[in-house]
Amino acid sequence: VIEIKMNWSTFIQQIFQSAEPYLKKRDDFLHTQVAHQYALLLIKQEGGNKKIIEPAIILHDVGWSSLDPIQIRAAYGVKSGGKKADRLNRIHEREGAVIAMQILQSLKYDLQFTDKIISIIQRHDSGITAPHPEEQIVKDADKLWRFSKTGFWKEVERQKLEPAELYQYLLTRYPEWFFTDTALMIAKKEIKNRGVETMQSAKH
Ligand SMILES: [Fe+2]
Ligand SMILES: [Fe+2]
Repeated sequence: VIEIKMNWSTFIQQIFQSAEPYLKKRDDFLHTQVAHQYALLLIKQEGGNKKIIEPAIILHDVGWSSLDPIQIRAAYGVKSGGKKADRLNRIHEREGAVIAMQILQSLKYDLQFTDKIISIIQRHDSGITAPHPEEQIVKDADKLWRFSKTGFWKEVERQKLEPAELYQYLLTRYPEWFFTDTALMIAKKEIKNRGVETMQSAKH
């Protein structure tokens, strides 16, 4: 059992290493680490296959590497929207699936799991439904990032927002964003903390 555990964590490290160069483009390494931690928490509470969920969450945003910074800004965030944003966002999903496939093949990963991982990455932002627990957890973990202290303040900086603007945006939308009860509970708790910090930052 110990040996299997060791091999898995080594494999997870290898995926992180392979993903890192692609995640640099939008400075997504931290986002990926935080989302991965949330995914582990969700697996513990909600179940789901870690052999699909963990590689999928680590690789989900590698596709941003195929867009330039101006396109990334147009495609992503509170202030983006419309057809152009959608089109660019689909590119990060599609290219991400291609890159993830290359990485998993180079690591000789199980083909059945690889297929499932790829299909999750392909629709991780655009898919409105998530029929499988694995997809639900990847989507929820990705979204929880912006509610975390690290993620919230990083997004304020990255999207050039007022903290109150992001706080309000998250507060109005979060009740409809999550598939799992655990993620909803975490978001509810975290948004309160971000509210307090936002008020404090306004005073200074
Ligand atoms: Fe994404
Ligand atoms: Fe993401």
